[in-house]
Amino acid sequence: EKQPKTPQTWQGKTFVITAGPTREAIDPVRYISNHSSGKMGYALAEAAAHAGANVILVSGPTQLATPAGVQRIDVETAEQMLNAVQQQLQQCDVFIGCAAVSDYRIAEIASQKIKKEQNDEPPQLKLVQNPDILQQVASSEKPPFTVGFAAETENLKANALRKLERKQLKMIVANDVSQTGLGFNSDSNNAIIFSQDSEQSLPTMSKHDMAVAIIDAIAKRYFDNTT
Ligand code: CTP
Ligand code: CA
Repeated sequence: EKQPKTPQTWQGKTFVITAGPTREAIDPVRYISNHSSGKMGYALAEAAAHAGANVILVSGPTQLATPAGVQRIDVETAEQMLNAVQQQLQQCDVFIGCAAVSDYRIAEIASQKIKKEQNDEPPQLKLVQNPDILQQVASSEKPPFTVGFAAETENLKANALRKLERKQLKMIVANDVSQTGLGFNSDSNNAIIFSQDSEQSLPTMSKHDMAVAIIDAIAKRYFDNTT
């Protein structure tokens, strides 16, 4: 039985959504991060809540207000984001990894501010890889319907499909971030939504409208496959 795509489509279902950048400390006053504003993830949280879902937003540092009806958990690092997500997985029906998670962190965070005087040469920062939150969720014991994003500057389709496959995702939203003014830290976006057997192009639109379209695309597949 198919459910109608009414505003209350997601009544009784829980979404966990990651959003924003992560921040990886170098020393007590410095960090590695990226230009993610969090706007897309927050728009998704708002759209899912508007469609009746319980929404838990696991957010890196942003300047954004929490959307109405959304429960927000603030984190800084990728490891903190993973921990927060894992604690919410018990009752999670849909997971959307929208955060721009730092792929690497500093191997050993300096306990005091790094001083120029104490270094003859510029310091060499040693990096280690962060856990892949999306991949861990998708390969957990009882995985939710897992949706990822792919930010690419080249070979959009091939790279997105490889991520869909490698991370065992139900859907991936592929963004071409090579175009100036779109995607990262912008108000509008364009994207292609891929699943194993479908492809849906979304033209340039506001992140609000794109979020509604993505939540709708998830509903279509989620309810077609589970009922
Ligand atoms: N992601 C994640 N944890 C990470 C890295 C990425 O959860 N440590 C998620 C992002 O939230 C996004 C998806 O994985 O939904 C793809 O992120 P992206 O940076 O495009 O892909 P990577 O697998 O990190 O590959 P690369 O950066 O090399 O393109
Ligand atoms: Ca990455």
